[in-house]
Amino acid sequence: MSPRTMRRKNHAIALLAASIVGANTAEPLGVHPGPMTRAQAYARADALTALGRQMFFDPSLSASGKQACSSCHDPNHAFGPASASPVEMGGAKLDQPGVRAVPSLRYLQAAPAFSEHFYDSEDEGDESVDNGPTGGLTWDGRADHGKDQARIPLLSPFEMGNKDKAQVAASLGKAPYADAFKAAFGADVFDHPQDAFDAAVEALGTFEQSSADFYPYSSRYDAFLAGKAQLSAQELRGRMLFEDEAKGNCASCHLSEPANDGEPPQFTDYGLIAIAVPRNPAIPANSDPDNFDLGLCGPLRTDFKGRAEYCGLFETPTLRNVALRKSFFHNGYLHTLRDAVAFYSSRDSDPARWYPKNADGTVDKFDDLPRAYWPNLS
Ligand code: HEC
Ligand code: HEC
Repeated sequence: MSPRTMRRKNHAIALLAASIVGANTAEPLGVHPGPMTRAQAYARADALTALGRQMFFDPSLSASGKQACSSCHDPNHAFGPASASPVEMGGAKLDQPGVRAVPSLRYLQAAPAFSEHFYDSEDEGDESVDNGPTGGLTWDGRADHGKDQARIPLLSPFEMGNKDKAQVAASLGKAPYADAFKAAFGADVFDHPQDAFDAAVEALGTFEQSSADFYPYSSRYDAFLAGKAQLSAQELRGRMLFEDEAKGNCASCHLSEPANDGEPPQFTDYGLIAIAVPRNPAIPANSDPDNFDLGLCGPLRTDFKGRAEYCGLFETPTLRNVALRKSFFHNGYLHTLRDAVAFYSSRDSDPARWYPKNADGTVDKFDDLPRAYWPNLS
C-alpha cells in the first residue's frame, strides 16, 4: 500500500469512527437544533449540564453582580435557602425583598406539567379521579419546565434583576465559560441576545435534570424502603401517624410509598391546595393590608385571575430534605418543623394559637385569605 492510499484509508476510518460515536457533535448545533442522533443528544446534554452548572453558581449573571442562583438555592441545603429569613433580597442593589419562600430545587424532575384536571397514571393511582389543579413549578405552578422557570429569576426585579435579555446575554459574553457557550450554541450566539437568553435558560434547565445533584434518592428513608436501613421505634410511630387516614393523613398529599411501578415516593402529589397559612407580617409587601398572595388565582400568576375557586391554592411541596429548612410554607411564616406539623393538627381546633386577634378580642382566623375564598380550604 502506498503512503497515499494509506492516508486516505485512515481518513475513511476516522470518518467512520466519527459517524459512529457522533463525534460531529463538536459542531455547534445552534440554539434551536433540529433532530439529533442519540449520540448528539447525549453529548449536547453533557455540554449543557456543565454550562448550566457554571451559570448556576455565577453571580455575574445578576444585575448586582453579587447574586447567583445558588445564593438563594444553596446546594448545601438541598438547593433551598441557607438563611432563616422568610424571603430573600434581590435586584440591582440587593434591596428588593421577595414575596415567597425559596423552595428546594430537588425532586422537581417528577413534577408533571401544570393541569387543571389531573388524572393519575395507571402506575400511580386511580385513573378515573379528577385530582384538580396539579403540577408545574413555583408555588403556584405557573412555569412548566426548568427552562421556562429560569427566565423568571434572571429578569425578576426582586431576584437577579437584569433589565432585559440583552443584559443577560452581555454578561454571558464576558463569562469565563463564554467560549464553551459558543461551542455549544454557535460562534455568533452572542450577536443575538434572544438566542443567547434562550440558550442560557436551556442550559440551566438541563443542569436541573442532573440526577446526582437534583434527585439522588440518597436519604435514610430511601435506604429503609430498599430494606437496607432501620427506622427507630419513634420514627416508625411517626410514619404510622403520617400515613394513617384517620390521624395525620399527611401521606394523602405528601406521598410516602413507592408508586406501583416502584418509583421512590416524592413526598408530594404536586396538587394545589388551600390550607390558610397565617399571614406573614415579616414580608414587606404585607404591610399593605390589601395585598394578598392568592397563589393560583394571582397576582404573580395571571392566567387564572378572577377565578375565585382557585384563590388561596398553593402547590404541595416535597417534604424530602424539609429538615434542612428554617422557614416553612409559601410565605415562610413558621420556623420550626414542629410548628409546621402542629399547625395541621390545631388550625381548626385552636385557631388562637396560629392567628392574631382582632381589635374586639376575637381571633382573626385565616387572616391571609379573604373570607370569600374560605370555601376553597382543605
Ligand atoms: C433572590 C432569590 C432567588 C434567586 C437568586 C433565584 N431563585 Fe429560584 N426561586 C426563588 C423563589 C422565591 C422561588 C419561588 C417563586 C414562586 O413561587 O413564585 C423560586 C423558584 C424556583 C424554581 C421552582 C421550584 C419549585 O419548587 O417549583 C426553580 C426551578 C428555580 N427557582 C430556579 C432558579 C434558577 C435556575 C435561578 C438562577 C437563574 C434562580 N432560581 C435564582 C428565589 C430565587
Ligand atoms: C390536602 C393536602 C395536604 C395534606 C393532607 C398535608 N399537607 Fe402538608 N402541605 C400541603 C400544601 C399545599 C403545602 C404548602 C401550603 C402553603 O405553603 O400554602 C404543604 C406544606 C407542608 C410543609 C411545609 C414544607 C415547606 O417546604 O415549606 C410541611 C412541613 C408539611 N406540609 C407537612 C405536613 C404534615 C406533617 C402533614 C400531616 C399532618 C401534612 N403536611 C398534610 C398539602 C398537604
